Amino acid sequence: MCYFTDENYVKTLKGSFSREDLDLWARQSLPQALKLQVGCGAEPTVYKHLDRVFELGKQYGVPHISMTTNANLLTREKLQKLVDNGLNEITVSLHGIYQNTYEELMQKGDYQKFHKALQIISDIKQTNPNLLLRINYTFNEDNFTELKDFFKVYGRYGVDIIQIRPISKIGETAYNNFSLEKIIPVYDDFIKMFKKEAALNQTTLMAPAGIDNLIKRENDSSVIFNYTYFYVSPTHFWRKDFDWKNQNFRDYTRQIGWGKQLISNVFKSKKQLQHLLRDQNLNYDVDF
Ligand SMILES: C[S@@+](CC[C@H](N)C(=O)[O-])C[C@H]1O[C@@H](n2cnc3c(N)ncnc32)[C@H](O)[C@@H]1O
Repeated sequence: MCYFTDENYVKTLKGSFSREDLDLWARQSLPQALKLQVGCGAEPTVYKHLDRVFELGKQYGVPHISMTTNANLLTREKLQKLVDNGLNEITVSLHGIYQNTYEELMQKGDYQKFHKALQIISDIKQTNPNLLLRINYTFNEDNFTELKDFFKVYGRYGVDIIQIRPISKIGETAYNNFSLEKIIPVYDDFIKMFKKEAALNQTTLMAPAGIDNLIKRENDSSVIFNYTYFYVSPTHFWRKDFDWKNQNFRDYTRQIGWGKQLISNVFKSKKQLQHLLRDQNLNYDVDF
């Protein structure tokens, strides 16, 4: 479902951050960060200096340090090291409750390895109570029905947060059924039942509130997205005109009048802010 299944897109990705780049990145970006989310695009566990990323997060006092991963390469030693370095939430991508769906949707993914990794996370949580396990389940017409068995199969790992979100078209992907037609009629009943199960398992549920969100494919909470999400990769550093090697966040935001923009947004109508509610932004509600 991810744009990393698009060969042409992958060809455009080059390079990786050196250790020195990381130090500069941290200095320019982390003093303001409330959350460091590693692995919003590529797979973080293949990166050579991953330990250092978390170490820097901790050094700069970022309150929430999280990693999104397919977990297939996680070992006990690797994870323990990341947690010691500052990781406090691990978000694991899961797109099928049962083996067939899991392996069909996660190219080269291995269901047995995946369960082993979850067991490792669950064990490490016992001695590191601050570590949260979050599951991210992007749903589509082929994996939605089995989601009802989520707690039966995965409840034993002590999942702290389950986030379910509808597939969106984020590129020319190998899986390309973006329709939610079969899900919309059953979604409201499903979410009622799933909310109850999540509460019984002491798991926080993040999900579109109801079918309206699925039909509209937008969410009022997305208004905060452009002001809170800073995507950084070796080929893309937040905004095009931000010269990250020579400028820091504070100088840049002063230059573009960021503060004024935020204040003026407070007085704008919902209609005037409509352009901020883009499709693939937030697909859950945020309570302000
Ligand atoms: C792009 S992956 C990359 C991080 C890491 N390699 C992993 O597998 O978790 C990050 C998240 O994007 C979500 N995702 C992938 N394709 C999506 C799509 N078409 N629509 C919405 N979310 C998607 C996945 O559920 C995954 O948790």
